[in-house]
Amino acid sequence: MTTPPVAISAAIPGGRPVVSQSAGVTVTRTGVNLGAEITGVDLTRPLSELHFKAIEQALVDNQLIIFRDQDISSENLMDFGRRFGELTVHPFAPSEKEAPQLIKFRNDETTPPFGTDVWHSDETFRAEPPMATMLVAKEVPAIGGDTLFASMTAAFDGLSDRMQQHISGLEAIHDFKPFKALFNDSLEERKKLQTFELQYPPQLHPVVRIHPVTGRKLLFVNPQFTLAIKGMDERESRSLLDTLFHQALVPEYQFRHHWAPNTLAVWDNRSTQHYAIHDYYPQRRYMERVTIKGGPVTGVPRADPKTLRRGKYVPLPGANPTGGHRPH
Ligand SMILES: [Fe+2]
Repeated sequence: MTTPPVAISAAIPGGRPVVSQSAGVTVTRTGVNLGAEITGVDLTRPLSELHFKAIEQALVDNQLIIFRDQDISSENLMDFGRRFGELTVHPFAPSEKEAPQLIKFRNDETTPPFGTDVWHSDETFRAEPPMATMLVAKEVPAIGGDTLFASMTAAFDGLSDRMQQHISGLEAIHDFKPFKALFNDSLEERKKLQTFELQYPPQLHPVVRIHPVTGRKLLFVNPQFTLAIKGMDERESRSLLDTLFHQALVPEYQFRHHWAPNTLAVWDNRSTQHYAIHDYYPQRRYMERVTIKGGPVTGVPRADPKTLRRGKYVPLPGANPTGGHRPH
């Protein structure tokens, strides 16, 4: 028997329900701009199509969905990932021979975490970056090791009209630059790096991306992989990127996730960025990850000046003059 979709609670500003149900899947919004917890599903068992559709919709609506107490195997994780699409193999992360799509992050006193304490969307150095990433916690530190997420639709909406207009139609160069540190200076390693450089040449992506499902505009540059804005003087590009990178740092656009064992997080890698906090070394943290193949990246054309809207902190006539930000 299936349960029809019912909204069972009041909406938060912006019209989204705090709690909604569809096909027995309960989605509880936990962050204002992104983040929801999902209950009513057991990921150790195959999901019905109805359950899966409800989860898929929840991911797009909430950008980040969290499942707790899911004692799933690596196979369960891969099976769940495959419901969303083809799993990809990360070119630089260590993976299992028998399951190259599965990444095991084992960090402890001998293996400090590498390269995730910087804001990023996963693998934007690819022509078609992943549409989503799934990460399940197996072992967590007693304290620390949270992950921060930022809604890049909210980050875009928060820019002034002038800036939105300025960046619409621009393209940025993305590159796997941070992973180059994994190769040493030996001839063999340099050859390996050259092969990767040929396989993953720098990619141009629009600075303002259109989400392929929701149609919402989002900011699609990140400090891990974005090198420069195409067609700009280096100083202009650096200064503009600095301004745009800063958007992910705005607390209003963020959600902080605290891990417990058997918590699974799935994020829409198109509309979010994340930052894995490196405050737990030398404690142990063990996570497993799969990534789902994405499609082409579509951007917006140059903005029409007639579509200008207000900036984040500029109140509309008759609106609260503090713009909702109270002095404290
Ligand atoms: Fe990441």
